[in-house]
Amino acid sequence: MGLHASPSLAGSRRKGPRSFWAPLGLIGALAIVGLFLAVQVEAAGPPTVPGATFIGSDQCKGCHEDLAKKMEHTLHSKLLGTKLSHTDLQRRGCEACHGPGSKHLEDPANPAFNLRFGKKSPLEATDKNAVCLQCHQRGKRILWQGSPHEARDVACATCHSVHAPQTGKGQLQKATQTDLCSQCHQVKAMQFQRSSHMPVKEGKLTCTSCHNPHGTTTEKLITAISINESCTTCHADKRGPFLWEHAPVIEGCLNCHQAHGSNNAPLMRVKQPRLCQQCHVETRHPTQPYPVNDRKVFNRSCVNCHPNIHGSNHPSGVFFTR
Ligand code: HEC
Ligand code: HEC
Ligand code: HEC
Ligand code: HEC
Ligand code: HEC
Ligand code: HEC
Ligand code: HEC
Ligand code: HEC
Ligand code: HEC
Ligand code: HEC
Repeated sequence: MGLHASPSLAGSRRKGPRSFWAPLGLIGALAIVGLFLAVQVEAAGPPTVPGATFIGSDQCKGCHEDLAKKMEHTLHSKLLGTKLSHTDLQRRGCEACHGPGSKHLEDPANPAFNLRFGKKSPLEATDKNAVCLQCHQRGKRILWQGSPHEARDVACATCHSVHAPQTGKGQLQKATQTDLCSQCHQVKAMQFQRSSHMPVKEGKLTCTSCHNPHGTTTEKLITAISINESCTTCHADKRGPFLWEHAPVIEGCLNCHQAHGSNNAPLMRVKQPRLCQQCHVETRHPTQPYPVNDRKVFNRSCVNCHPNIHGSNHPSGVFFTR
């Protein structure tokens, strides 16, 4: 309805954009759309083995018995190429990932005759990943395209093992997430060794308690909608709302804390009382650093008297003393 509402508007529209695109013509426009679609499809589809046809998993298992045995306990073995498969792709079993096998039988040593995933594979990371994404694009991997790991050519098979997984859940290449991630993020992983740290080495948290390595809409692959939201899902008492808010807490927990670990308890960026003095230099009780015998440097320092530092609901006022 709205579209036909004003003939004069329609007229002016015709003169504008149409005249600009006119020299291109219909064929040109279609070519551009076609090109765009081709690029899209090429980026999304898994690679193929030209001229090869499917031969069925049983043949593969005949020659690769050890490998097939090794993966027997995994979900892939139970669901792909078995009675439980419920799509054509799943029914292909080994060939769902490695592609049609007829040419491979002609020349097993030729790496172009099947899809390979190991370190020596001639395939690009994007092509290897496209194979997995045929079945795993949804859920946690919905934002994989363009994520930091995708953009830096980290392959699914760098973190996951199909044939020799070290963990039951998630089928990881290493026995723990710390071992897995620290191969590339040594500094971050070692922060959990500091004297005050998130209980990751104790096994209470894992990297994926806070990160989704497959991609997120947020910075630093944080699973929650923001860093503060992530912290307060577990530390709900710090969420508020408070009658008396402390501005740096609302702005970001990381104004004062480190996410992984610190040598200043509890996970502080800077030692007390310097922490507070970064921002509060002129108060009614002067805050020169480390005055000898000062009540401000003993025990918990400033929070001896300002314990509700994350916010307070006490009618006595704004100073976080109660
Ligand atoms: C007639 C025996 C035979 C059959 C059947 C067979 N393969 Fe192979 N395959 C081999 C041999 C031998 C090699 C090792 C070639 C080499 O030295 O690189 C191999 C290598 C491979 C590799 C590469 C190993 C690597 O080092 O990266 C993959 C992947 C593979 N086969 C998968 C399959 C799949 C999937 C099927 C079923 C469609 C299958 N094979 C069927 C004999 C077979
Ligand atoms: C879900 C995808 C998937 C399925 C299904 C699958 N593979 Fe693999 N295959 C891989 C990946 C990924 C690798 C790389 C090594 C790894 O991650 O374990 C691999 C490696 C191999 C290798 C090379 C051996 C090595 O250790 O380097 C052979 C041979 C092989 N697969 C054969 C098979 C056979 C036979 C089947 C069916 C019983 C099969 N694959 C089913 C994904 C798959
Ligand atoms: C033909 C479809 C298909 C392909 C291709 C495929 N998978 Fe899977 N995968 C499944 C199914 C089905 C399951 C079991 C149910 C589930 O978790 O979705 C599964 C399970 C998994 C799991 C374990 C999930 C858990 O809950 O612990 C991992 C990890 C995984 N796949 C990784 C991969 C990787 C890496 C590749 C590529 C090398 C791949 N898959 C290729 C179908 C597939
Ligand atoms: C940087 C490492 C890394 C990369 C790259 C990666 N994953 Fe994961 N993936 C993980 C970790 C860690 C888990 C969580 C395992 C757990 O919960 O114990 C996981 C979990 C999974 C699961 C289990 C089910 C789920 O949704 O939680 C599947 C399936 C999976 N990944 C598939 C993939 C596919 C497909 C790719 C490539 C597009 C991929 N992963 C790339 C690290 C990675
Ligand atoms: C308690 C939540 C939490 C846990 C658990 C956690 N992280 Fe983080 N991580 C964060 C937050 C928040 C940031 C962003 C702030 C920062 O850079 O310090 C971050 C940042 C990162 C960064 C990006 C740093 C940069 O400067 O770009 C890496 C890499 C990282 N974490 C790896 C890991 C690894 C590996 C593990 C597991 C061993 C892990 N994280 C466990 C919360 C967490
Ligand atoms: C094979 C190497 C590799 C492994 C293994 C790996 N990463 Fe990464 N990770 C990277 C690269 C490369 C980047 C991009 C760094 C950059 O752009 O500066 C990255 C970036 C990140 C970032 C920062 C994202 C951002 O927005 O800056 C986080 C968080 C992260 N990885 C977490 C993890 C976690 C958690 C694991 C284990 C489950 C893991 N990574 C395993 C290579 C790896
Ligand atoms: C998945 C849950 C979870 C998330 C998310 C989380 N934490 Fe924690 N945090 C914990 C657990 C569990 C402990 C250990 C508590 C204990 O041992 O009593 C802890 C400990 C702490 C401590 C030290 C407490 C002490 O008494 O030593 C601080 C400070 C802290 N977290 C701040 C944060 C900040 C800041 C964030 C956001 C970057 C965050 N947490 C995200 C679960 C979480
Ligand atoms: C202005 C600096 C500052 C900011 C910002 C801040 N904190 Fe704290 N936090 C502290 C101080 C100081 C302590 C130590 C309190 C004590 O010793 O009593 C602490 C202690 C903690 C503790 C451990 C003790 C407890 O009370 O449970 C947790 C958990 C914590 N903070 C979480 C958070 C979260 C979540 C955020 C963001 C919503 C946050 N902090 C923001 C200064 C801050
Ligand atoms: C990142 C800067 C920053 C840090 C670090 C910080 N504060 Fe604050 N603080 C502020 C801001 C901004 C206000 C709000 C001032 C205002 O509203 O005039 C505030 C308000 C206060 C107030 C209430 C005073 C008033 O007039 O509203 C007290 C008390 C206070 N902070 C104590 C502390 C203590 C104790 C610490 C250390 C644990 C600390 N602050 C760390 C920035 C900071
Ligand atoms: C012995 C208890 C005590 C200690 C220790 C203490 N404060 Fe206070 N502080 C107070 C009291 C009480 C008030 C409220 C004054 C009032 O009601 O006028 C106050 C007020 C404040 C205010 C707001 C008023 C102003 O002058 O701007 C700030 C900011 C503040 N303190 C920061 C700090 C910092 C930073 C430290 C550590 C270096 C600290 N306090 C240590 C008791 C203390």
